[in-house]
Amino acid sequence: MEPVMVFPVNTSRRFVVVLLLLAAFSCFSPRLCSGEDRITFSTPINDSETLLCKSGIFRFGFFTPVNSTTRLRYAGIWYDKIPIQTVVWVANKDTPINDTSGVISISDDGNLVVTDGRNRRLWSTNVNVTVASNATWVHLMDTGNLMLQDNRNNGEILWESFKHPYNSFLPRMNLGTDGRTKENLRLTSWRSDQDPSTGNYTAGLAPYTFPELLIWKNTVPQWRSGPWNGQVFIGLPDMDSLLFLDGFNLNSDNQGTVSMSYTNGSFMYHFNLDPDGAIYQRDWSTSMRGWRIGVRFPSTPCDAYARCGQYGSCHPREDPPCKCVKGFVPRNNTEWNAGNWSNGCVRRAPLQCERQRNVSSNGGGGGGGGKRDGFLKLQKMKVPISAEQSLANEQNCPKVCLDNCSCTAYAYDRGIGCMLWNGNLLDMQSFLGSGIDLNIRLAHSELQTHGKRAIMITAPVVGVAFVAAVCVLLACRKFKKRPEPQKDRSAELLFKRMEELTSGNESASNQVKLKELPLFEFQVLATSTDNFSLRNKLGQGGFGPVYKGKLPEGQEIAVKRLSRASGQGLEELMNEVVVISKLQHRNLVKLLGCCIEGEERLLVYEYMPKKSLDAYLFDPLKQKILDWKTRLNIMEGICRGLLYLHRDSRLKIIHRDLKASNILLDENLNPKISDFGLARVFRANEDEANTRRVVGTYGYMSPEYAMEGIFSEKSDVFSLGVIFLEIISGRRNSHKEENNLNLLAYVWKLWNEGEAASLADRVVFDERFEKEITKCVQIGLLCVQEVANDRPNVSTVIWMLTTENTNLPEPKQPFIAKRGVSEAESSDQSSQKVSINDVSLTAVTGR
Ligand SMILES: *[C@@H]1O[C@H](CO)[C@@H](O)[C@H](O)[C@H]1NC(C)=O
Ligand SMILES: *[C@@H]1O[C@H](CO)[C@@H](O)[C@H](O)[C@H]1NC(C)=O
Ligand SMILES: *[C@@H]1O[C@H](CO)[C@@H](O)[C@H](O)[C@H]1NC(C)=O
Ligand SMILES: *[C@@H]1O[C@H](CO)[C@@H](O)[C@H](O)[C@H]1NC(C)=O
Ligand SMILES: *[C@@H]1O[C@H](CO)[C@@H](O)[C@H](O)[C@H]1NC(C)=O
Ligand SMILES: *[C@@H]1O[C@H](CO)[C@@H](O)[C@H](O)[C@H]1NC(C)=O
Ligand SMILES: *[C@@H]1O[C@H](CO)[C@@H](O)[C@H](O)[C@H]1NC(C)=O
Ligand SMILES: *[C@@H]1O[C@H](CO)[C@@H](O)[C@H](O)[C@H]1NC(C)=O
Ligand SMILES: *[C@@H]1O[C@H](CO)[C@@H](O)[C@H](O)[C@H]1NC(C)=O
Ligand SMILES: *[C@@H]1O[C@H](CO)[C@@H](O)[C@H](O)[C@H]1NC(C)=O
Ligand SMILES: *[C@@H]1O[C@H](CO)[C@@H](O)[C@H](O)[C@H]1NC(C)=O
Repeated sequence: MEPVMVFPVNTSRRFVVVLLLLAAFSCFSPRLCSGEDRITFSTPINDSETLLCKSGIFRFGFFTPVNSTTRLRYAGIWYDKIPIQTVVWVANKDTPINDTSGVISISDDGNLVVTDGRNRRLWSTNVNVTVASNATWVHLMDTGNLMLQDNRNNGEILWESFKHPYNSFLPRMNLGTDGRTKENLRLTSWRSDQDPSTGNYTAGLAPYTFPELLIWKNTVPQWRSGPWNGQVFIGLPDMDSLLFLDGFNLNSDNQGTVSMSYTNGSFMYHFNLDPDGAIYQRDWSTSMRGWRIGVRFPSTPCDAYARCGQYGSCHPREDPPCKCVKGFVPRNNTEWNAGNWSNGCVRRAPLQCERQRNVSSNGGGGGGGGKRDGFLKLQKMKVPISAEQSLANEQNCPKVCLDNCSCTAYAYDRGIGCMLWNGNLLDMQSFLGSGIDLNIRLAHSELQTHGKRAIMITAPVVGVAFVAAVCVLLACRKFKKRPEPQKDRSAELLFKRMEELTSGNESASNQVKLKELPLFEFQVLATSTDNFSLRNKLGQGGFGPVYKGKLPEGQEIAVKRLSRASGQGLEELMNEVVVISKLQHRNLVKLLGCCIEGEERLLVYEYMPKKSLDAYLFDPLKQKILDWKTRLNIMEGICRGLLYLHRDSRLKIIHRDLKASNILLDENLNPKISDFGLARVFRANEDEANTRRVVGTYGYMSPEYAMEGIFSEKSDVFSLGVIFLEIISGRRNSHKEENNLNLLAYVWKLWNEGEAASLADRVVFDERFEKEITKCVQIGLLCVQEVANDRPNVSTVIWMLTTENTNLPEPKQPFIAKRGVSEAESSDQSSQKVSINDVSLTAVTGR
């Protein structure tokens, strides 16, 4: 069936049904449907014909590689409209045709086949379809996916090129392994730039305990990315992590299914495994009329797999690059000194636990004594291959390792947890900027010689926050023109805030490059907003009104003027400046600068022409603009922004005030989280905090936060769940449903009656999406579970949202405020007394 039907949003359901029928009807007549983007039994294509996808980005047909000395013809998919031949998929890669007699057609058995002039079958989709030949067709999608579909069975997909990848990893494609079917999707290189036949390199996800990306040459590893921590691969040297933070997704279900995919607004973007055995990320530059290379893996000689052998560590900037880890010596000095490091290093002093073991097995006494083994901490490391998982927390991780004699090292990453290694350590590298702490087990005697550097238990420290704060301070100072008393006080506060943010005194890593945050002059902002005229007022944000402005250069901005009345103004401002200035993500609103003059404190943001989500969701006229797909996209975008906050590599940020009015929409209706005035930065080892001042918005606050002041990632997840349910239903949580139920109670009632899909906003409800809607309601309910531990974390929510056919846990009864609390959405600057389940508290709200 045509996948591109977009319904006019304001048509009635009946009209939609008519459209559906019309479309369905027209497709049974092959003539009407055999356009340029499909092949049917009666419309095969020959060498001079091609298939073009609707958007015109990809073309499918016969080609000869440029610069090839032969004239061999291959059936493949390439980018159309660009002057450089770029092939992303090849069908008959090992069985080319030596003339132009080739035909691509649907064979009698319904498969897509490539045949030559003598009608020999050179390639086939090889699906056991057992249907009549006129019942299948082939369609080239806008994503570059070639699909063989069964036109009787609701367009069931029998085969797709995305499930048979070759050298290119395109947006929306999945690589990985399926634990059930054992299907393993990997990239394979061409033999050479001119020869598309199967090359020697493959690349894909290795189903280790912690999945990572590998490149193999004839099954021998050549390079590895290090484990995925929910955000990035931690073994990539000084990576621009933004590559992965934007739309990159890796899911693992612990039952052998691992998959990786990404989205990019542009389709002129891909990863490719080249014949030289490296993965290149390229995007098309219109100005250069060429492909721009973003990254290349491997990128340095040290990235070569196991270059320095066992217990050897590679140092990219040193000569020679290979060194034995302290406490280890080369296995063969002659080879090592000659620059052949592959045999690696061996332990110099045996571990106490091993000696003890030998002594007890020999039955002798005494000799096995001595001091206990300890750990040598190596900073900024690429961790070795084959980590094992321990469920220990950060404090217990070293102990768990120490207690098992076969454990040779441990490391802790907040996104991954406790990693342990048993046996030899292979493929380590010392990074300059990124990387994590690796703790290697050594005999006590080895540690004594380097007494000060060795530690038993590491204390993670926050370096980035420190740098962020310093940079903001420096930036603000640099732009400061006239000294004002207020500014000095603000500098003081900023210093205080910096101290708060830094728990250790690790010297700041200078890898962090913050954009200098400009300090605006008050007069400029006043002029740009027409003296903060009411006409330009966009709304009331946390701690003050927000105005639309236009800078002299023409750039549109949003200016938040912190109200003088709010006592917390300056501190909240500093908080927001520090937090937000270091954040850069597609789904977070961007801070452009700040202004502190006299009593005035202002924040300048990028301008969001579409304003906030609630302005659409709850407006009977505008809610139609948000069709179901858009709503789904908004939910996913909010999750991605939130995931970035929760899983930023060093700091964890809890937003604390997520709600529909804090989600802004850009011109394409992509969501951006805003208003970080209440955000709380957590140190690396903190998961949960407690506050006596409960701030936030009722209706969105989790019970443990509202009642006990405890907040964590999971309290943001609760707010997320409420937003989800509001997005699906188009109703405010505070609004009374039938029988005086609030939204959560109402959803729970529908869920139990098996009517979850009927929650959907009537203006967007569509039967085609019924299953999807039900799933989203279920996810929403899981997010608002009363017990924080029952709620999923954000990465799981994304996984649930984006993966089809998953078995989600059954939600329990969500938190439903028993007294009418949730309707008291305290959205204005006030202090009010509320009681929830007889617990009394004073809520200081910023809005
Ligand atoms: C391919 O088909 C087109 C139209 O059916 C025809 O004009 C053309 O001559 C054919 N080319 C070859 C090489 O057979
Ligand atoms: C083809 O050869 C020319 C000249 O050697 C070279 O500039 C060009 O990059 C080559 N194209 C490809 C795709 O290899
Ligand atoms: C193509 O290969 C076939 C054998 O596979 C051979 O008979 C034929 O002559 C070749 N044609 C050309 C143009 O080389
Ligand atoms: C194809 O499918 C039919 C019916 O499902 C089955 O009987 C047959 O064995 C299958 N053939 C192959 C080659 O898998
Ligand atoms: C497919 O072919 C069979 C027999 O050739 C015919 O009965 C049937 O109607 C055809 N189906 C379609 C959808 O054209
Ligand atoms: C691929 O590997 C095989 C076997 O190791 C070797 O014979 C062949 O030359 C290699 N091909 C390329 C293009 O490197
Ligand atoms: C797509 O990739 C380009 C090139 O790396 C990048 O500039 C752009 O931000 C990406 N777009 C999205 C929506 O991820
Ligand atoms: C070290 O390696 C060299 C060269 O491979 C070899 O000749 C020598 O016997 C090795 N020495 C030891 C102690 O294994
Ligand atoms: C390095 O040593 C290994 C093991 O002794 C040997 O197999 C290999 O050929 C040597 N490599 C070089 C480049 O000498
Ligand atoms: C312990 O015994 C094993 C085999 O009996 C031996 O290989 C190993 O070197 C011994 N370790 C120590 C520390 O003595
Ligand atoms: C030590 O670790 C190894 C490898 O994970 C495991 O097989 C063994 O059971 C552990 N030993 C103890 C005593 O836990």
